[in-house]
Amino acid sequence: PVPSLSDAFGRRISYVRLSVTDRCDLRCRYCMSEAMSFLPRREVLTLEELAELADAFVARGVTRIRLTGGEPLARRGIDDLARMIGRQIGNGLEELTLTTNATKLADHAQALFEAGVRRVNVSLDSRDPDRFRHITRTGDVKQVLDGIAAAQVAGLRIKINMVALKSLNEDEIAPMLEWCGAEGHDLTLIETMPLGVVDEDRTDRYLPLDGVRTKLEERFTLTPEQHRTGGPARYLRVAETGGRLGFITPLTHNFCDGCNRLRVTVDGKLTMCLGHDDHVDLKQALRTGGRAALDEAIDEALRLKPRRHHFEIAGRGAAPAVARHMSVTGG
Ligand code: GTP
Ligand code: 5AD
Ligand code: SF4
Repeated sequence: PVPSLSDAFGRRISYVRLSVTDRCDLRCRYCMSEAMSFLPRREVLTLEELAELADAFVARGVTRIRLTGGEPLARRGIDDLARMIGRQIGNGLEELTLTTNATKLADHAQALFEAGVRRVNVSLDSRDPDRFRHITRTGDVKQVLDGIAAAQVAGLRIKINMVALKSLNEDEIAPMLEWCGAEGHDLTLIETMPLGVVDEDRTDRYLPLDGVRTKLEERFTLTPEQHRTGGPARYLRVAETGGRLGFITPLTHNFCDGCNRLRVTVDGKLTMCLGHDDHVDLKQALRTGGRAALDEAIDEALRLKPRRHHFEIAGRGAAPAVARHMSVTGG
């Protein structure tokens, strides 16, 4: 049998994020520029290729797969893909999940549940319609809230992801925590990462989460939790709501020692770290060499996996750490 996956630093790789499209119906200011260009279709992996990759990773001991984008529900055939990958659940695969903006979640929730998905992470930076429109440039928050409601009806658990943005949604963090508590959703706050050029300077929006936590502690009793999802978030329990609050702190508290993951970009490049350009071309291996070539490419990637990212919000005008946008790499 092919050996399971670990890197040069002894970290076991058990989690893969597959970006299924670089497209998105929204244009969140910290994520995309207003005029993004997208990859031509032939560069993008087919659904069959994505499923084949998922199989290859599961055969190598990967237990969790997350579909991302861009917006994964913007990919035609996404329900079919979930169904194809979902067949591996119980067969080595323990969890299939998605990270979505939820604008189209109402149309997919039932099919995703039937495919074996049990929880989804929803990006929601504001519940205020005008603000949501401002941050996403094109979005209608009602669609997102309807999507979340439909997902709950379908039986999906929800975690809300909120990127903390200075003077954009800072004052909404406490209300969001209350709302999530009341609705039964976990909430994770995220520091903005310097990935790809966007139209605004991220320096102006960067909000270190240490200060946010201190402020929240004036109103809420937060106690550390052991709960880990295998992701970078550190969780706290919120006594007042009974809910869980996660912090993803790439800038202020590095979490790379526990990294368990690889990412596949929408054009089939296996990237070892969100914060590095190094990659190995899986599409090439898939299209010309079959499973053996694929396994070889994955092994090569593991040897290249760096110890950590070195993100910093380096001051106005600084170039982003990585030119590739999050939407290509896979949120
Ligand atoms: P679960 O813990 O399984 O719920 O998922 P998650 O928090 O890992 O995934 P999600 O898609 O919700 O990601 C939330 C944020 O964390 C996104 O902004 C991701 O880009 C970021 N993130 C996830 N994994 C990593 C990582 O390995 N490195 C860095 N720097 N950021 C990550
Ligand atoms: N920094 C931090 N988070 C980002 N996301 C997109 N771009 C960035 C960035 N530059 C978030 C989205 C979503 C998740 C997949 O990544 O809001 O919640
Ligand atoms: Fe789309 Fe997510 Fe990027 Fe917003 S953050 S533009 S929802 S991919």
